[in-house]
Amino acid sequence: MDALESAHGPVTIRLVRARDAKPLQHELMTNRAWLSPWEATNPDGAVSLDMRSGVRRLQQQYRDGQSVPFVIEYEGEVIGQLNVWGIARGSLSSATIGYWVSKRVAGRGITPTAVALATDLCFSALRLHRMEICIRPENGPSLRVVEKLGFRYEGFRRRYIHIDGDWRDHFAFALTREDAPGGVLRRWLSGAAPESAAARPESP
Ligand SMILES: CC(C)(COP(=O)(O)OP(=O)(O)OC[C@H]1O[C@@H](n2cnc3c(N)ncnc32)[C@H](O)[C@@H]1OP(=O)(O)O)[C@@H](O)C(=O)NCCC(=O)NCCS
Repeated sequence: MDALESAHGPVTIRLVRARDAKPLQHELMTNRAWLSPWEATNPDGAVSLDMRSGVRRLQQQYRDGQSVPFVIEYEGEVIGQLNVWGIARGSLSSATIGYWVSKRVAGRGITPTAVALATDLCFSALRLHRMEICIRPENGPSLRVVEKLGFRYEGFRRRYIHIDGDWRDHFAFALTREDAPGGVLRRWLSGAAPESAAARPESP
């Protein structure tokens, strides 16, 4: 794995490594009620929580150019994941971001920082043009993340992703490189991210 990583203050994102399996497994097991309503599931069967094979699978997807699997560190400790998945190259040059953090560190602005760092890396180092985030309408905390960063509401996708055992509706949000020429992190920190961009219609 190469050194694709970025940091701001106590928050670092870097590619997942084999030795992250243990702390990730611990967080996943001790945060079941916190994570499971928002977790992607397999429509064809059970999802394994064995992170050793999970990390190997993520690393294979990275080698295949399908995704960029980051861990999120807070003050040097692995406390969550951010996965850039569904990478399309060429005339689309787009990808989708998914994320979670441990409940014990929620509310400290870790995820918006990690998403801004990842989006800026994707626009620069990975030469992607558009980054998307899809969120269930019920997920208030996650909707705050896209509001803070000024991701643009782009529509309602009915029964779009298999989450927590069924096909769930999602709102889609996106940014393109032109939206924040000086960087998404810098735009947010300077107070220039337009929170209203993520506003949803009353009835989608
Ligand atoms: C969504 C999530 C990633 C946000 O991460 P975060 O690092 O806490 O993000 P922030 O610190 O910016 O907090 C976002 C919002 O969460 C809410 N929040 C804050 N502390 C919280 C806590 N202890 N518990 C629950 N929600 C909390 C607040 O509404 C906050 O918005 P505010 O800053 O305007 O008050 C995190 O809640 C999480 O991992 N949830 C479970 C998995 C998940 O939903 N993943 C996303 C799927 S799309």
